[in-house]
Order: sequence, then C-alpha cells, then structure tokens
Amino acid sequence: MRSSDIRATFLDFFSERDHRVVPSSPLVPSDPTLLLTNAGMNQFKPYFLGETVPEHPRAVSVQKCARTSDIENVGRTTRHATFFEMLGNFSFGDYFKAEAIAWAWELFTRHYNLDPERLWVTVYLDDDEAERLWRRMGVPSSRIQRLGMEDNYWSMGVPGPCGPSSELHYDRGPSFGREGGPAVDGERYQELWNLVFMQNLRGPGKDDYPILGELPSRNIDTGLGLDRLAAILQDVDTVCETDLLSPTFSLVQEMAGRAYPGRDGSDDSTSFRVVTEHARSIAFLIADGVLPSRDGRGYVLRRLMRRAIRHARRLGIDLALPDLTSSVIGALSGTWPELSEHSGLIRQVVTAEEEGFDRTLRQGSRLLDTAISRATSTISGRTAFELHDTYGFPIDLTIDAARSAGLTVDEEAFAELLEAQRRQAHEASRNKKDEAVSRRDLYRRVTAERGRTDFVGYDSHSAETTVLALIAPHGETRAAAAGDEIDVILSRSPFYAESGGQVGDTGELRTSTARARVVDTRLGLDGLHVHTVRVLDGELVPGDAEATVDASRREATARSHSATHVLHAMLRRLLGDHATQRGSRVEPGRLRFDFTHHSPLETTPLQTLVNDYLLDDPSVHVWEASRTEAERAGAIALFGEKYGDTVRIVDIGDASRELCGGTHVGHGSQAGPVHIVSESSIGTGLRRVEALTGADALRHYDHEHRVLTELATLLNVHPDEAPDRLRRHLQTLTETQNQLD
Ligand code: SER
Repeated sequence: MRSSDIRATFLDFFSERDHRVVPSSPLVPSDPTLLLTNAGMNQFKPYFLGETVPEHPRAVSVQKCARTSDIENVGRTTRHATFFEMLGNFSFGDYFKAEAIAWAWELFTRHYNLDPERLWVTVYLDDDEAERLWRRMGVPSSRIQRLGMEDNYWSMGVPGPCGPSSELHYDRGPSFGREGGPAVDGERYQELWNLVFMQNLRGPGKDDYPILGELPSRNIDTGLGLDRLAAILQDVDTVCETDLLSPTFSLVQEMAGRAYPGRDGSDDSTSFRVVTEHARSIAFLIADGVLPSRDGRGYVLRRLMRRAIRHARRLGIDLALPDLTSSVIGALSGTWPELSEHSGLIRQVVTAEEEGFDRTLRQGSRLLDTAISRATSTISGRTAFELHDTYGFPIDLTIDAARSAGLTVDEEAFAELLEAQRRQAHEASRNKKDEAVSRRDLYRRVTAERGRTDFVGYDSHSAETTVLALIAPHGETRAAAAGDEIDVILSRSPFYAESGGQVGDTGELRTSTARARVVDTRLGLDGLHVHTVRVLDGELVPGDAEATVDASRREATARSHSATHVLHAMLRRLLGDHATQRGSRVEPGRLRFDFTHHSPLETTPLQTLVNDYLLDDPSVHVWEASRTEAERAGAIALFGEKYGDTVRIVDIGDASRELCGGTHVGHGSQAGPVHIVSESSIGTGLRRVEALTGADALRHYDHEHRVLTELATLLNVHPDEAPDRLRRHLQTLTETQNQLD
C-alpha cells in the first residue's frame, strides 16, 4: 500500500466514525514548553487540560513531528527517525479505551490487513481493563505484555496531560532480533501504534514533576508512525526503502557511486540511512521556518545538517544536501506543499551551511594539526573540547587524527567538560522553565476561576471593566500602592495584547481609589490579557475600573500594521511569491519586516508601489471564516503561526488578504505615507526592511527638508542646485589642498 493510501485510509476510517479532520500544526509549536512539535496531540493540549473546549469532541490528523532526543540511534537502528508523520485519532472527553482499542484492531487487521498472528500488545503494569479489551479482540494473553512507566506511560510537558498507554507491535521476524515479544526486542517487535489513555495531570512539585491528579475528563490520544507502517505494508526493512524516502535513498547511492549494502550492521549501511533520513527532517524544518543557529531549534537543525554532512563525506559525497533536499521536496510536496513553497529557501540554507561547515572543518583541522605537532603523547581534553564546541569538530575525528599521529586524546577530561557544559545549559533552561511554568499555572488558575479577558479593543478605545486580579512577582496580591509596578487582569479590556508582531497597547486605568498607567499589555495565556501598570496615585485594589487606551499611539500602530500588510503584498508583486514574511514588528509609527529573498533590493520602486497602493484608498475589510474557507479564499497564513478553527481575515484592497488578529486602519489612505529607511541582509536568504509610517514618516521628511534648506542657505543656492554646488566646492577644496601641499 502506498503511503498516500495509508494516510487516506486512516483519515477516512476515523472520519466515518465522526472524527473531524484537523490539519497538521507546524513543526514550530506555539507551546513555550516545547522546542519542536513532537506528537500529534501537542496542538490539542489545551483541550486535554480543560482550558479550551473543542468545537468537536473527536479529531483525526496526520501530524508532522520532529524528535531528536535519540538522534544517535537514527541510522543505527532501522526504526528511529528524527522526522516522521504521525497518524492519530483523538477523543476529548468523549470515547475512551473500549472504542480506541476496538477501532485500532479493526483498522489494523481489516483495512491494513496486518496478520493478527504477528501483532503483539503491551499494556501498562496495572491496566487490567486494557488487557481484557485486547483479549476480547482475540489477542491471546501470550502476546500481551505488561511494561512500566518507561514504555507504557506517556506525558507531554509540565504542567501537561499524561496517562498509561497501550501499544501495538508487529513481529518483523527472526532476522530482526530475538524472540520473546516487545519486552525483549524492540527492533524485531516494532512498535507501531501507541494508544494513550490521557487521564492524569503532571505538574511541578517537590519530586521531579509528579502526577498531580486527574484531568477534568478522560481522553484518547493515539499515535501511529506512518514510516513504520509503510515499511511493513511495502515489505521493506527500513523507512528509507519506502515510497516516502526511496527517491532520496536512490540518489544517495547514485552520488556515492555504490549501492546500499543492506542491513549488514556496517558503518556504510548506517551512513546511507542517516543521510537519507536527515535530508527529510532538514527540508521540513526549514520549510516551517527554522534556520540554523547556535541554540534552540536552530541548533537542532544545525546538528542534523552536520551529522548528515559528516556521513555524506564518509560515503565520498562532496556537496550532498542541496540535491538531497530537492529530492525530498519532489517526493513529498504533493502532501506537504510547504516544501515546494519554500524550496528556494531550503536550497540556499543547506548550501550555505554545507559550505560553511567545510570551512569550519578546515579551520578545525588547522587547529588540530597545530595541537598534534605540539603534543608529545596526548591531546588535552580542553583542545578536543574547543574543537568540538567552537568548530563543531566531532570528537571521533579528533581521536582518529590523533591516533594516526601516534597520540591519544584525554577523553575523560573531554567528557567532563562536555558534561559540565550540558549541566549548565540544563540548569539555566530548567530555572527559566520553572519560572514560566509557575506563572502559567497562576494564569491558568485565574482563568479557571474568573474566566478569560473579553477583548473589546477592535471597536473601542475605552471600557467599563473590573480589576479581577493583581499579580506581583511573587504571586497574586490584594493591593498595590503608588509607585508599584504590577500586573493586572481585567474582565474586559480595550488593550491589545502584544501578538503577531504588533506591540501591546498602553493607556490609563482608573478606579474609585487609584489611577494607574498601563505601560504594556501582553498575553498570559491564549485569551488572557495581562496589563503591566504603574500605580500613579492611591491604592489599587480589585473592583470596578475604567480603562482607556492611548488612542493616538494605537492609531499610529494601526497605520504601521496596515502598511505592513501592503508592504508584504507589494514585495510579492515585485519579487515573486517566495518573498514571504518571516518576522515582523509593528510599532507606533514604525515597522520592521523580515522576509525571504536572496539579494539586495532597491527600495525606491517598492516604496512607490506601497504609497501608490495606499493613495488609491483601498477599503479595509475584516471578516471571519473557518480556516479552510480562508485558505480557499487565498488568505496568507504566516510562517509558523498557529491559528484556531475560526480565523480573522484582513483584506486591504484586492492585493492583500492575510489571517491577522491585529488592529488596522479603517481605510488604506490612513496608513500612509510609508518611508523606507533601510533594507539589509539579516542572515542567509533573509532580508529586513525598516520603515516609518504616517506622522513619523512626515516628521522624517520635515527633518530632511530642514537639513537641505540649511545646506542650501549656507551654499547660497536653491536646494536643487545644492549637490552640484557642494561638489564643486569640494573639488576646489581638494585642488587648493593639492596646491598648498
Ligand atoms: N502522544 C503519543 C505519542 O506520541 C500518542 O500519540 O506516542
């Protein structure tokens, strides 16, 4: 069965059982506790936690996932991958174990026609109910095994939903490993489908993230790896040989000038698989907006690229990634159009990184040569660490080179330095995470008790409201005095909370006892506005209040936001559809816009296009629709942003239609003029435009005009003649200088 049929069969099976088909969320998650999307359930976490009520209680999806925690296993085993598509069905407080198990069995044995005799099941240690349900399907107890937390318990994040799970495994036969079921050999009894019975909450506490209690309802979260199922249904050993990756796999062999030796345990065999598998993750990560960098997601991507390049060099391939990622795009963009949409960017990024890595290796080699020539018997751990840390020079290479020169490497000292660095990074990130987690916990509690913020700021600049909570750095508090800076939660708010690049509103808050300045507004949680205020006089306590936004600042921000949309549309008109938004900052009177493009851009034609478009006074129309309707209508969704089922769309004239939650002008002409002050490169294939809008653009022109007038007066000419006159003066000056010399 082809992989496209496997996906379709899965989606159809669950659609017929009243599941709503939900598109994959991007690989860059909106959840701050997560680096990369690693499971189908990530986008549904708020439903499991009971923070948001889903529009429909059942969902089915094919989710792009990235997992790199066990990267060293990828290529060594046949089953690990750093990217995979996860097929999943979900119940949010609706059906539970009985249905999940019966459907999984029916789909496997009757639709994918897997031989029931080769299917094994694992259940959590004390889950008698799950075992009973599998027995009812006809699975004999000899093929049901009980495993502990490590294997049969699944959780996502802290705080996060978790629960015992039950997994379906397929016996690939004796050539893959020992007999005895999944408890004995994971390579032979390959895990295919994980059914998680999401019922508990994991949270921060004295022990390392204990299970705190029950979720508001019992849920189902399942995940079936498309790669693994495809390998079995297509009767091949590894994902590289399935139709998902076989074109790329063949290309690797062609480039290496030799054939894959098969699953023979050799280093070559591993390298063929690593290069192929990583090429896919790399293409998908870049398509979803990740760029190589020194930390975070960018580092994950860089590590994948460097690992792939190293293995490609082992196979004798010089420049591997540009063509390999192109072949991934060719094979998979039918299902994942974002790959072809960003094919230009993918090619540029991988080419630059591969060339850069070669330079790094050359520099590292020089340092290593010097170290070798100076050493008498051992290369120090510090040198090996510097090579690894600064030059990305793998320790294996250092050891090999040392060995060829009859030297050793102080591997112990190297390992200690590595471990110290890891501990430091871990601690720093854990402290930051813990702080963010306890803040979010507090916000969650406030939301659960007092509801979300009713945002009224699209239509009005002020509102009668109630101060619901005051939050000081140490937690919730009852009152704030003059001079205090504190966070405030309001029942209704006219203040826009920073999001989508647009800055948060400022303004004033008055109660019968106090007056406070709102200095910033941001989102604590989805739908919860957090206002940072400075108390000016009196004592601020919960109760009735009047909130007023700084109207002129908001209007200046709206100008910049509408101008940003038009700038985006005109950039695409000028350069083509590859010029998509990669980041933006919308402030009162100024904007910054980052987009994908590879060469410098002349700003005058762009500025003229934008201003002409705005001068035509295009109407600004804001409407709502389902995500699918919006996409059908051609609305641009931004890179990596996650949108709900119902989206807000902003049209400005005929050329600009974007999904957007921001505030805009009523008519296009109110957004101008736009004056571009700079255009620059901010990384491989990425450019930045900065511009002034409205009164700020005019002030800028006024200032330039004043400077020009002053120059003209000094030169005693009309401004138009000033440059010529100045040039002549400078020339005379140079000549005089020469004569004097
Ligand atoms: N969340 C579980 C997993 O990722 C099941 O979908 O395995």
